[in-house]
Amino acid sequence: MSSPLWTFDELVRAAAGRAERVTGAPIVGLSIDTRTLQPGDLFVALKDVRDGHEFVTKAFEAGAAAALVAEGYEPRPGDGPLIRVPDTVSGLEAIGRAARARLAPEARVVAVTGSAGKTGTKDMLRACFSRIGPTHAADKSFNNHWGVPLTLARMPATTRFAVIEIGMNHAGEITPLTRLARPHIAIVTTVEPVHLAQFPSVEAIAEAKAEIFLGLEPGGVAILNRDNTHFELLRRRAEAAGARIVSFGQDARADVKPRSLEIASDGTSIELEIGGREFRFRVAVPGIHIARNALAVAAAIHEAGADTETALQALSALPPPPGRGSRQELPVGDGRILLIDESYNANPASMRAALAVLGTVPRAAYARRIAVLGDMLEMGPEEIGHHVALKEAVDAAGTDLVFACGPNMAHLFAALAPEKQGAWTAGSAELTEQLVTRIAAGDVIMIKGSNGSRMGPVAEALAKKFATK
Ligand SMILES: Nc1ncnc2c1ncn2[C@@H]1O[C@H](COP(=O)(O)OP(=O)(O)O)[C@@H](O)[C@H]1O
Ligand SMILES: [Mg+2]
Repeated sequence: MSSPLWTFDELVRAAAGRAERVTGAPIVGLSIDTRTLQPGDLFVALKDVRDGHEFVTKAFEAGAAAALVAEGYEPRPGDGPLIRVPDTVSGLEAIGRAARARLAPEARVVAVTGSAGKTGTKDMLRACFSRIGPTHAADKSFNNHWGVPLTLARMPATTRFAVIEIGMNHAGEITPLTRLARPHIAIVTTVEPVHLAQFPSVEAIAEAKAEIFLGLEPGGVAILNRDNTHFELLRRRAEAAGARIVSFGQDARADVKPRSLEIASDGTSIELEIGGREFRFRVAVPGIHIARNALAVAAAIHEAGADTETALQALSALPPPPGRGSRQELPVGDGRILLIDESYNANPASMRAALAVLGTVPRAAYARRIAVLGDMLEMGPEEIGHHVALKEAVDAAGTDLVFACGPNMAHLFAALAPEKQGAWTAGSAELTEQLVTRIAAGDVIMIKGSNGSRMGPVAEALAKKFATK
């Protein structure tokens, strides 16, 4: 049997807590949600919409080995071992800090931030490093003030490579998280106009992303997007933090740039040179944006001192996660349609990238290109402009028909040539009804919008309606 994630005593010490009802049982994991808690987990009672302390008893019923609770929690009959701390968020952070501290000196921690592509890049790195040695990363997009400490706290002591996604909605959020993770390598995938409602400008977003360098270990490396408008700002901030810069991108000045890049509708083949050595690999997720993320991945693997050749081969076998470009061929009439589900989220950059992928699907396979678009949210005062500006990308992709929903997309829809106007509706449910009546064999349908625009259900409805019986 492999060693437990933590012993109870180690956790008490790590959290600087007080043990009540001690146990010798091993702690196999950490959970903040009783619905997904596994037997043997430490349940961490956090306060969100509901107070996690209300669920402590339930956690023990579900098999929790122990619970981390705040002062003031009144134990109930049926409760098991408790670790009491003044504040459970700080307690979780302390456990995360201890997990980071116990890694071997040769272990490498990579932190990933950026306006888009964090989770995808994290998943690529995890797949690549897993081919080399024990690798730890969150399964999901756990990137905030809970997700980062939780991911660290779940990290086994034997981890050789850790990949930590760090996100933010406000200035100042990344600083404590990167100081907790203490990365050797920090990647900024890109800086784009997202969350503009919370920031005065895109430069302000770049400044907030640059906080990631503040947690870098001495001698750390900043991996920066040379093609991004905010490269210089990030470079200055990274240098000020004492980081060495490695840039990636298609720009001729980039340290890691493709010698060749073959973009197809089902993936990208890349040839590049790092440190005088040549690497060839295929990325199974299509799109130039993903290929660019893969350059950052290659750079990070190299900087982590891992066998880059072996590691990169993992990318040919890594499918896109649900809602981020996953593909499904479905029977319709006596032919087929191709559904590209990008419904997980959207911003101007990822919208353009997804439309560009739609434009690479060969007409010979799928004759008609349909874009199904929901509002991009949190876009700030320029939101209408950001939507209308997508017209160029819609046209460049050779899109034949656009189905759109939401008040912002109404403006893009109105700007389109009449023959491209499929339908516009207020909400996504009505749009599904319109769409199903118009779909025909030979269509490729790309569905995208912000999470809150509920485009996921559109993709699900189509997949269900046309599923192989
Ligand atoms: N470098 C990039 N530039 C623009 N869009 C990107 C980039 N990388 C990924 N995307 C797109 O952004 C969306 C979100 O990807 P994801 O990896 O979940 O990012 P995040 O974790 O930052 O939210 C997806 O549609 C993805 O295809
Ligand atoms: Mg994410």
